[in-house]
Amino acid sequence: MQPVMASAQDRLKLLARSWTMVAEGYDKSFSGRFGPWQRDAIAQLQAALPASGRGTIAVPACGPGQELPLLAAAFPRHRIVGIDLAEGMVEVARRLVAERGLADRVEVRAGDASRLDGLGPLAGVLSVFGLQQMPAPGQVLANWVAALQPGGACCVCFWPQQVERAGPWQRLFDLTAALNRQPQPDWEAGIPGQALAAINGVQLLRDERVVHAMEWPSAAAFWQAMTRAGPWHSRLLHFGEEHMEELRKLFMEGYPDEAAPLAHTPEARLVCLRRGPAPKAAL
Ligand SMILES: C[S@@+](CC[C@H](N)C(=O)[O-])C[C@H]1O[C@@H](n2cnc3c(N)ncnc32)[C@H](O)[C@@H]1O
Repeated sequence: MQPVMASAQDRLKLLARSWTMVAEGYDKSFSGRFGPWQRDAIAQLQAALPASGRGTIAVPACGPGQELPLLAAAFPRHRIVGIDLAEGMVEVARRLVAERGLADRVEVRAGDASRLDGLGPLAGVLSVFGLQQMPAPGQVLANWVAALQPGGACCVCFWPQQVERAGPWQRLFDLTAALNRQPQPDWEAGIPGQALAAINGVQLLRDERVVHAMEWPSAAAFWQAMTRAGPWHSRLLHFGEEHMEELRKLFMEGYPDEAAPLAHTPEARLVCLRRGPAPKAAL
């Protein structure tokens, strides 16, 4: 049977439910492994935005919130607002913020972060591994840049369509696409072009690939984390165990020694943009 994908609204509900169910497991399996990319994105925001300034930095798709204390340390005078679709993620992130004694300056909200309208003109936007989950990512990036105040900066790290040349993650992508039997839309095409075209005076500071190594005890452990605690869990909810077992068998054919340690080097895409300064008042 050909899998049928959900409508945009159904997909949003599915993602919120899935990420809530896996929040604790995701934090254990992925927060540490994704840390190097989070630190890269924060370093780029530091290069783009004076830490001595004030204002609000929004963190769309903050998940369990590992980047929030790192950002609070890098920008000690700013207010920081994390937003995530999944109540379960918000709960984990709020716990972390409270444990670190940051609740006076760091807030975590539940909701769809594809628009940031309610937060007022922002000093900054930082988002790690959320953009690829959003409907129309090019438009979402334009929305985030539009929410910046003059001189504000937006640094976004996300998983592109090609995550690695060869490796378990790309294998999972390719096998999933083959099972879908539908052409993959080129959702990266509008990044960063849509943001640059929609808003006057936006400067592209950086658009590059960032590689770090990831290690797993085995291919089976990678499969388990991706499907029971990570981005493929929503597929499990949507298509069920039988479909996932079919995918698992295809995936594991690439790893005859199921128990052998697995290392790979995924490449994220890091894009940073800055809004031009406020126009000088006429003399
Ligand atoms: C892969 S996790 C990334 C979490 C964290 N930033 C990190 O680097 O580990 C993706 C997160 O995006 C959130 N998400 C997906 N779509 C969203 C949306 N439209 N609005 C807000 N959050 C969203 C999910 O709930 C999930 O917590």
